[in-house]
Amino acid sequence: MKTLRAYSLAAVGTVLALAAVAEARAQSSETIRQYQFAAGSDGYELVLREVPRPVASSGEVLVRVRATSLNRRDWSMLNESVRARGVNFDGAIPLSDGAGEVIAVGEDVTRFEVGDRVAGTFFSEWVDGQRTAAGLASARGASSGGMLSEVIVTHEDGLVAIPDHLTYEEAATLPCAGVTAWNGLFTEGNLQPGEYVLLEGTGGVSSFGLIFATAAGAKPIITSSSNDKLARARELGAVGTVNYRENEDWQVEVRALTDGAGVDHVLEIGGRDTQSKAMEALAFGGHFALIGGLTGAAPPIPVGSLVRTGSSATGIYVGSRADFEAMNAFMEEHQLRPVIDRVFSFDEAQEAYDLMGNGSFMGKIVIAH
Ligand SMILES: NC(=O)c1ccc[n+]([C@@H]2O[C@H](COP(=O)([O-])OP(=O)(O)OC[C@H]3O[C@@H](n4cnc5c(N)ncnc54)[C@H](OP(=O)(O)O)[C@@H]3O)[C@@H](O)[C@H]2O)c1
Repeated sequence: MKTLRAYSLAAVGTVLALAAVAEARAQSSETIRQYQFAAGSDGYELVLREVPRPVASSGEVLVRVRATSLNRRDWSMLNESVRARGVNFDGAIPLSDGAGEVIAVGEDVTRFEVGDRVAGTFFSEWVDGQRTAAGLASARGASSGGMLSEVIVTHEDGLVAIPDHLTYEEAATLPCAGVTAWNGLFTEGNLQPGEYVLLEGTGGVSSFGLIFATAAGAKPIITSSSNDKLARARELGAVGTVNYRENEDWQVEVRALTDGAGVDHVLEIGGRDTQSKAMEALAFGGHFALIGGLTGAAPPIPVGSLVRTGSSATGIYVGSRADFEAMNAFMEEHQLRPVIDRVFSFDEAQEAYDLMGNGSFMGKIVIAH
């Protein structure tokens, strides 16, 4: 009679064998599995389709995507409001952020070879320098090809090598939220050790802001609707925490945490419900990184506040490949890892979106492919 241990070893063996078959199919069969947006009567739906395997033309690279991650923008694209604005994503591949392994290269490819570990840049055509209209039009996961696919083809210019110490699941969280926080704090904000940084909530951009500010020797103060998330944020380096649900005038508390001086940096992701309050918490000579409108469209910037405090405000739109590479070097130097709440399987993509919708997560939501 077989023992329980023999049965469970056999079960593990079967799972591994099935995974190996699935992987061999993803690596070489003529078709691959890919999610696409499908227009429904009430917004978009996610559908899983079998499509022809893409081929790498000159300058292009074929990537076996190993993991993707969600951003608020991806979740919004499944909403009716996006369709109401007349944007058409029907048939496009969702998700801007993903990481994987190079499995084939086209002619004239010089930056990568088979086996390299890579992540896609958020803008596949913004390599360096100032943003351009063409660069911004190349944002992945909208009308330009996304990453929620077993395999993608992309120009080599739209990829970066990922830090050796990160798994594919960790690296998949970097392209949008990571680079945005990096730009807001360092490229545009010139963050210095000892400065106070205000982070709103504990989602993707703010969780990157927290680990970056901590590693840079700055003093992050973070808000959240959850005391449990605030406790975790303190473990990750927050020097001050405020529950914005229990304390409507949280900006007063934030200023008090700086002994009245105010915060030197804000990663402003909230928009309507947060912008004016965060501005009240800003120190003289501070930097206000305008990033998002999570709670609705933000009111106009109160110019008088900027004039009085001698502060500056910068509009952030993720960043270039050069920004991504600078961030990766910093993460490698400090051996930083992103905050990941949960990893779903490729077949559970809808559940990953649902978790983002209900808000009961901290940091990033990942899909392993
Ligand atoms: N401009 C750009 O380049 C850029 C790039 C990335 C993102 N964005 C935008 O930035 C925003 C954040 O994106 P994300 O991906 O980081 O979002 P996310 O991961 O979905 O963040 C969600 C979190 O935001 C927090 N939150 C919600 N309402 C809040 C409020 N009133 N005050 C403070 N925190 C609040 C909550 O934290 P708790 O659960 O802790 O309460 C929630 O869990 C979105 O509007 C997104 O579109 C812009």
